[in-house]
Amino acid sequence: MSALTNTHDVLVRNLELLQGQVALLGVSDPAVLSRCATPGLAMSEHAGVFGTLAQVPGWHACYGYDAGASEAARYDTVVVFLPKARAELTLRLAMARYLGRAGARLVMIGEKKEGIAGATKQFQAIAADASKVDSARHCQVWVGNNQHPLTAFAVDDWVGWSQIACAGVELSVAGMPGVFSEGSLDEGTRLLLETLAEKPLKAARVLDFACGAGVIGAWLHAFRSDSAGAELMVDGVDVQAQAVLCAEATYIKAGVKGRIYASDGIAGLAGKWQAVVSNPPFHSGVKTDTSMTEQFLRDVARHLEPGGELRLVANSFLPYEGEILRQIGPVEKLAQDRRFTVYRAFRRGGAGVLPIKKPLG
Ligand SMILES: C[S@@+](CC[C@H](N)C(=O)[O-])C[C@H]1O[C@@H](n2cnc3c(N)ncnc32)[C@H](O)[C@@H]1O
Repeated sequence: MSALTNTHDVLVRNLELLQGQVALLGVSDPAVLSRCATPGLAMSEHAGVFGTLAQVPGWHACYGYDAGASEAARYDTVVVFLPKARAELTLRLAMARYLGRAGARLVMIGEKKEGIAGATKQFQAIAADASKVDSARHCQVWVGNNQHPLTAFAVDDWVGWSQIACAGVELSVAGMPGVFSEGSLDEGTRLLLETLAEKPLKAARVLDFACGAGVIGAWLHAFRSDSAGAELMVDGVDVQAQAVLCAEATYIKAGVKGRIYASDGIAGLAGKWQAVVSNPPFHSGVKTDTSMTEQFLRDVARHLEPGGELRLVANSFLPYEGEILRQIGPVEKLAQDRRFTVYRAFRRGGAGVLPIKKPLG
């Protein structure tokens, strides 16, 4: 049997805590399900993990925070794995309060380096009787009772809006706890958008990989509309349930044409685009992790039309230039500041600039 992650392993050390109907919130390792005595609800906000959870017989898999009304007050034990963003803990605990019956056992498990000690105040605010029952594998386990159950919980109520402006374009962007750069425009994204204003994409169908709240797609749509260019379709893809929900909301509000895919990477997507833009992930939990972006760079050529453009921003210290050259074609650096570099490359095998159906401008 393969080793579980620390937090999931610690749950397995404490299986006696799981009584009656069980809900696990924030599962990152589906293997933990086979160690539980009876099936229940398993929630993950990661599309790839959710896809695996959905295959496990008997379990009810939930993608993110969209719990159905029939799940209210159904569970005797609700386990909350600590999310990396503190704001998301408030959301996850609210879901736990909703899923757990009054007085249900609430269990919170997290790694010390991910801030479990600081999270206990939030836990005690909903379960004043909470206490630490185990400490192992760099994790702590806290247990309390559902003293403040929620009778209503709707994920849409957690969506908020903020205004961003860049290169003469203003936008409303949806946000919710855990979504990247909630409430502000990331500096890397800003640099990318500035290059898109200076050197616009010559494409009618664009894919935004790792779209987050949909800011790049909505900006491209507004910029193209302002410059009276050809109609643009911008699809987006993100792994995180909250990002998918927010990107859809941002697109609807801005009138963007395009579809948002919930997917771990782009290997599973069908189709080719004339340009792919991205501010790709470089974290997994609290650690720097370039593997998702390296995988994306290995997969992206298959989704780019010959001559199609890849435009990507990344922290300058990350080693993507060589991989872009190998996978796509010669790389230009369009902009660079203290932290970020914007790269551009055209897929080998085309003219470099794509013919599009309607002329620009
Ligand atoms: C640096 S943020 C960029 C978000 C958005 N494009 C922006 O500029 O504000 C990276 C995004 O990658 C998403 N992500 C992480 N791993 C992913 C994967 N394997 N497949 C798709 N998206 C992923 C994260 O959920 C996050 O929204």
